[in-house]
Amino acid sequence: MKLFVDTAELEEIQALYAIGIVDGVTTNPSLIKKAVDRRKKHGDSTKIETYIKKILKTAKGTPVSLEVTKTEYAGMVDEGVRLYKKFNPVARNVYVKIPVNPAMKKNDVTCFDGIRAIKTLAKKNIPVNCTLIFTPEQALLAAKAGAAFVSPFLGRENDFIRKKGRWFFKKEDYYPSRGRSKDGKLVTDQGVSSGANLVNQCVTILKKYNLKTQVLAASIRSTQDVLDVALAGSDIATIPYNLFKELLTHQKTIEGMKTFTKDIVPEYAKLLGVTK
Ligand code: G3P
Repeated sequence: MKLFVDTAELEEIQALYAIGIVDGVTTNPSLIKKAVDRRKKHGDSTKIETYIKKILKTAKGTPVSLEVTKTEYAGMVDEGVRLYKKFNPVARNVYVKIPVNPAMKKNDVTCFDGIRAIKTLAKKNIPVNCTLIFTPEQALLAAKAGAAFVSPFLGRENDFIRKKGRWFFKKEDYYPSRGRSKDGKLVTDQGVSSGANLVNQCVTILKKYNLKTQVLAASIRSTQDVLDVALAGSDIATIPYNLFKELLTHQKTIEGMKTFTKDIVPEYAKLLGVTK
């Protein structure tokens, strides 16, 4: 499974790329707002265009998703083309993020605009990351339209299901991949029992029909979520910076390090050129 970092913070991206363990970057308008606000607060007046170019250069050779802001077909296509023309020449790694369905209300006339925009951009050979996926059917339609990636939102799907089940939770609380039952009945959302189950259903369908689109699990909030989407067969997981640290953390690893370091005998250390 490939690992992307879900952030617009340049320092976080630089740190992970320096280690060499990241395969891509995902941003969204909220992440860019957070990064821009933080920089302004610290008196950094770097233009957003320069800032994005720095991100693209840091991630050279790996995909960076940049999202459109418009919510109807022509606007999304226009912005997608603009984003691609302006930024892709920097490091040839821009993926345009398009919402699967930009409508703000159910069955609105604009409900097909996301899929139409994906189709048009894909025809122009502009790679698309289709975002805000909450059903495997949405993933199927986006894949058929030619999206390079589909992004099911694991954490937000879990939020929705546990709200339905009226379970008290904090955003960072883990929700089991197998789902939960209430009064003996599994609580589901249109046949989906958890965020990880959503990812798994997307993977199963796209593989079954040999669609080239890759599943990019997003809205991941815990190390268990990472494990769950790896087991669900996701092609990619996009992970917030801090979770990368947690993925490496275990109490027994720390304890083991302390004991092993304490037990080094001088003769052994000397063999390795260390004087103790
Ligand atoms: O990748 C999407 C992500 O940024 C949203 O995360 O935790 O706000 O649902 P979250």
